[in-house]
Amino acid sequence: MGLLRIMENTLKNVNPPVFQHFSGTGSPFLLENESAYQIWRETRLEHYRCLNPARIINIADASSFSVETQQNLATQMQAFNFAFFEIDRGRHLLSRKDFLKLGRRLGLHRFESSPDQEMDGVTALKAVDASDKRSMYIPYSSRALNWHTDGYYNPTSARIGAFLLYCVNPAHQGGDSFLLDHEMLYLQIRDTAPELLVALMDPAVMVVPANVQNGQVIRPAESGPVFSVDSESGRLAMRYSSRPRYISWKSDELTKQAVDLVTELLGDNEFAVSLKLKRGQGIICNNVLHGRKAYADGSTDEVSRLYYRARYYDTVSFADYA
Ligand SMILES: [Fe+2]
Repeated sequence: MGLLRIMENTLKNVNPPVFQHFSGTGSPFLLENESAYQIWRETRLEHYRCLNPARIINIADASSFSVETQQNLATQMQAFNFAFFEIDRGRHLLSRKDFLKLGRRLGLHRFESSPDQEMDGVTALKAVDASDKRSMYIPYSSRALNWHTDGYYNPTSARIGAFLLYCVNPAHQGGDSFLLDHEMLYLQIRDTAPELLVALMDPAVMVVPANVQNGQVIRPAESGPVFSVDSESGRLAMRYSSRPRYISWKSDELTKQAVDLVTELLGDNEFAVSLKLKRGQGIICNNVLHGRKAYADGSTDEVSRLYYRARYYDTVSFADYA
């Protein structure tokens, strides 16, 4: 991975950002809406000029936000599709229950619950022993996780719209998180080679092979587009993994060029942000591209990486509290 931008926890200037609202048919992510795209593009680039994506927003109470906290989180989410937070300036650790309360306060109600997750919807991510069957999955190891969106193997009907991460304990060494708003990757592709977006929006462009273990199908094969536009909200969603053995791409030349361009753009991206979360800090995001660096645990639980994660079918919304 190339050099990622790490910025100070300050605003670059005090100009208030301008946010856009659009409908399904007016979405700037539809290729036919060129003028809507140009307006959206200028607005988003302005966000990166005047706001700081690495800003960490303090949340005094996970279930009841002050007006200032709500405004700060809404600004970061609208500008970047992700926001870093800390609870009570790092003085207070969230319980699993409070972690879910935070999700509900962000309009996240429909959480994913699958056999490899705990039933309350909160997954405790940590490196497990080789005897644990979860050890075959990278999130349960200390290995690096390269660029992906969560649930890229899910069917469209179970698309992950958002997830929360919360650092209970940072790793002794490494384990930094890195994020890139998938809308900014879309912007870069549309500016470079818009014809390649046609390939990436093809419902047959990628197939995620079935997960078969000991002759048993854990998850069937799933095909779908990389980028898709929600017909009601006009929002852009992305399914992607940079791990080649987990994706079978359509075999035409345009797809090859498109996948190569995505790989190139992810190699060193000016809009990517990297941060090692401290204890009590976390990430709210609308399932943007992300990954983590490899890490090493210490000799006790206190210096072993432990994160809570919850995945949702909803996207972050403050509408209930507007
Ligand atoms: Fe992930």
